Amino acid sequence: MRKNIVAGNWKMNKTLSEGIALAKEVNAAVAGKSLKCDVVLGTPFIHLASVCSAIDTTKTGVSAQNCADKVSGAYTGEVSAAMIASTGAKYVILGHSERRAYYGETDAILKEKVKLALDNGLTPIFCIGEVLSEREAGKHFDVVRSQLENALFDFSAADFGKLVLAYEPVWAIGTGKTATPGQAQEMHAFIRKTIAGKYNAETAGNCSILYGGSCNPSNAAQLFSNPDVDGGLIGGASLNADDFMQIITAF
Ligand code: PGA
Repeated sequence: MRKNIVAGNWKMNKTLSEGIALAKEVNAAVAGKSLKCDVVLGTPFIHLASVCSAIDTTKTGVSAQNCADKVSGAYTGEVSAAMIASTGAKYVILGHSERRAYYGETDAILKEKVKLALDNGLTPIFCIGEVLSEREAGKHFDVVRSQLENALFDFSAADFGKLVLAYEPVWAIGTGKTATPGQAQEMHAFIRKTIAGKYNAETAGNCSILYGGSCNPSNAAQLFSNPDVDGGLIGGASLNADDFMQIITAF
C-alpha cells in the first residue's frame, strides 16, 4: 500500500546552523510519536551532510531540492545525484515549478534527472502542476497529463513505482491561496487514473501523491482527508517546527 508522506521544502532559506537547529527540533518532536506518515526535510545542498549526521534519518528522511542532469565532470556549480546519495539523503525534489520557471528545466531535462536519481537509489519527489492561466483556460488536466507523459512515462512500471509525485498548482505556491480540498482530490484522482491508464491499477494505487501549495496547519487535515491525497509538500510552513509538526500530525 502507498505511504503517507509530509515533506518540507525549505527552498533557499536557513543558514547551516539554523537548518541544523530546525532539523533537530523536528526530529526530536517526531521521535517517540507514532505517526501516520513519513517525514522528510528538503534542505539546501550544503546542509545535507550535516543534517543527516545531526538527526536520526530513520525517523526523519532528508531530501535535496534538485540534482544535476549529468553523471559527473566539468559542470561547474552542479551537484550530482551520486553526491547527494553519498550524504545520506534518500530523496530529491525534482521538477519543482520554481526550477521549471526560473532555471529553464524542461520535461526532457527532468527525465534525465529522474533517471540519475533512480540510478543512485534516491527517491524522486516529482512535482507537477499548472499555472493560473492554464487553470482559467480549463487546460489544467491536459498540462498535468503532458508533464507526466513527457517526463515520466518512458520509465518502466518498476521504476515508476519508486517515485513520489507532488501535485502543486503553481497559483497556490507561496500565495496563501490553497486549492480547495475538492480541487486537490479531483486532480489527484485524475493523476491516479492517468497512471492506471499508462501502467496498471496496482502501480496507480501504490503511488503516493502529495499536495503542495500553501498547505498549513489550518488546512492540512481537510486536504489530507481526501482519499487520493497522500500527504503534502510544504514550503513556508516547514520553516517553523511547530507549524510543520501540526501538519504532520494532521493525519
Ligand atoms: P508553499 O510552497 O507551501 O510555501 O506554498 C510549497 C512548495 O513550493 O513546495
